[in-house]
Amino acid sequence: MSRIESLIAAMTLAEKLGQLTMATSDSAVTGAVMSTNLGAGIVAGTIGNVLNLYGAEKVGAVQQLAMEKSRLKIPLLTCLDVIHGHRTLFPIPLGEASLFDPILWEATAREAAKEAAADGIHLTFAPMLDVARDPRWGRIAEGPGEDPFVGQVMAQAKVKGFQGSDLSQADCLAACAKHYCAYGAVTAGREYATTEVSRRSLREIYLPPFEAAVAAGVATIMPAFTDVAGVPLTANRALLKDYLRHKLGFDSVLVSDYNAIAELIHHGVASDLVEAAALALKAGVDIDMIANAYRDGLPGALERGLVTMAEIDTAVKRVLRLKEQLGLFDDPYRRGGTESGPALMARRKLARDVATRSIVLLKNENATLPLGNGRLAVIGPLADAPGEMRGCWPSAGRAEDSVSVLAGLKTALPGQDIRYAPGVDIESTDESRIAEAVSLCDGADTILLCLGESIGMSGEAGSRAHPGLPGKQRALAEAVLAGAVGKRVVAILFSGRPLIVPELSERVDAMLAAWAPGSEAGNAVADILTGRASPSGRTPVSWPRAVGQIPVFFGQRPTGRPADPKDHYTSKYLDIPNEPLFPFGHGLTYGAFDYANLSVTPDKARENDSFTISVTVINHGAREASETVFLFVHDMVASITRPLLELKGFDRITLKPGDSGIVRFTLPARNLRFPGADLEPLFEPGEIEILVGPSADRARLLPANVRLV
Ligand code: BGC
Repeated sequence: MSRIESLIAAMTLAEKLGQLTMATSDSAVTGAVMSTNLGAGIVAGTIGNVLNLYGAEKVGAVQQLAMEKSRLKIPLLTCLDVIHGHRTLFPIPLGEASLFDPILWEATAREAAKEAAADGIHLTFAPMLDVARDPRWGRIAEGPGEDPFVGQVMAQAKVKGFQGSDLSQADCLAACAKHYCAYGAVTAGREYATTEVSRRSLREIYLPPFEAAVAAGVATIMPAFTDVAGVPLTANRALLKDYLRHKLGFDSVLVSDYNAIAELIHHGVASDLVEAAALALKAGVDIDMIANAYRDGLPGALERGLVTMAEIDTAVKRVLRLKEQLGLFDDPYRRGGTESGPALMARRKLARDVATRSIVLLKNENATLPLGNGRLAVIGPLADAPGEMRGCWPSAGRAEDSVSVLAGLKTALPGQDIRYAPGVDIESTDESRIAEAVSLCDGADTILLCLGESIGMSGEAGSRAHPGLPGKQRALAEAVLAGAVGKRVVAILFSGRPLIVPELSERVDAMLAAWAPGSEAGNAVADILTGRASPSGRTPVSWPRAVGQIPVFFGQRPTGRPADPKDHYTSKYLDIPNEPLFPFGHGLTYGAFDYANLSVTPDKARENDSFTISVTVINHGAREASETVFLFVHDMVASITRPLLELKGFDRITLKPGDSGIVRFTLPARNLRFPGADLEPLFEPGEIEILVGPSADRARLLPANVRLV
């Protein structure tokens, strides 16, 4: 008998359910905290997994309880939301997505894993892979943005980065792909609300990132809190059992979201905890996160004949197998320790590079940036707010370890005249300090307006009906703009979402989306402002002009009546353009790039052939810079309407002034399949438009036509 089989044979029902139970330590961060009496549960074998406890010593102490005081000495699994770093914070995922660089996506996950593993963690609830097209939803901050292809590439990179090459290594974490699936489609962007998505949208938009995570060997998956078409994911047999387990072959651990099994009662699909527990187990959920639904509900479910012991054993087996893969049976204390000074310094350097690269230059009139030598007025509630730089999942990252914009600028520009005033708080309605801030404009050549959201305004439960500047920040910006006539005004936006700021964007000379850049925020912003680095971030999500445009995204399907300003009866708004303020992929640099010579060979391909696509990129600007190049396709005539643009690749090239280079893509023709009428992949002969260029603004893309035969 294997170790796992013998353990299961020796376990009481309570001990089995203990392996399926995750309890939170007292420092829980979301939702209700259950009173669990952690220590007693671990000793009794009724708690096998712990959430929100970190620190080598603390974790070691509870592990010791399991290993020395519990009857079967099964190691505990310790879990934490290490989403964009642990002690060293990287940009929030939406910010990181702006890099369009899978090597760095993997590198930050690798570093976060090392840092969290040194703090005794075994499993992180990341990557979050919810494609999101609604900036009202705060959790757009946590994921890859609007596009499923970006989600797929990010899924692979993050799973590889967190898990490394061997889960049993002391510096590797089990990853958790979440929240499966379509959580990003919550109605009206309202957190935890119902979703209404078609099976086709699931296949084309919401499932691909999860499929990529499964293909990359992700150790665990978390079903979303929400329902799809009336069936909560936590109880969704079709999506969990039939699709994930049977079709994709995912046989590892499914862990519920926080209290989600008990919430099946609120959803109205279970009348009590017994039914809720039975529904979740039947759907294939192995671990119950903090609801105590399995512990308290499954014994009754067995009695009522709603579940079988074999089903419980299957779940226990998966949990024990994960613990085995993590090397916990061989050495339960292998994670936890101190890292070397040089390792920490290298990590801070990575955090600075990644933060610098995540910043998107949205606008730069008259080469306002990089800054010249003049005097600076730094104004706004986000200018000296190190804690707010950390992002929506700060894990163990402390405010005092984050660099504010003001601090970063002072370090980068010693001796320069830098004045500072916050003007207003992030959210309050007090305008009494605006005049003082405006008075700084007189003595300044350039005004840096640091505006945006606090970290609590995005992420979980961070839905906003007005996702623009909160509080009185718009009043501050307007007063500064009125008082700064003849001076350059640069807006630096910090946010967990694209903000709706058309008026600000219109009036400032330059505007940056800095998202939440993490521990090295201020240094990264200073690197961009001073020109030490040329901006290279590209927005992974469209920036709406108005809430009424939401959802606005580049992958829209065609309409029978395309917008025509001269024809009333066409698909458009009467009051604003259809196009977003900034399209997906938009981002300026300090160079100036042109594209030429798009070549695609062959011009006809069968399913197993590949296209080779190349384009010449020329930097005719005055500074070295990096350009991100996007490859889109459009299937012009198909049996099912296809999106007007579909992303199939991206790459980056760095060019000195006056230099040119060639960017090449290989596009397997089979990647042009799409779900047919039966939702199975279909390769359909016909004409395909290949489009290459700097963003999803069609006017700026070079086109070429090829045929599938
Ligand atoms: C969130 C998850 C998170 C979990 C554990 C939940 O409220 O939805 O994303 O992993 O809490 O903290």
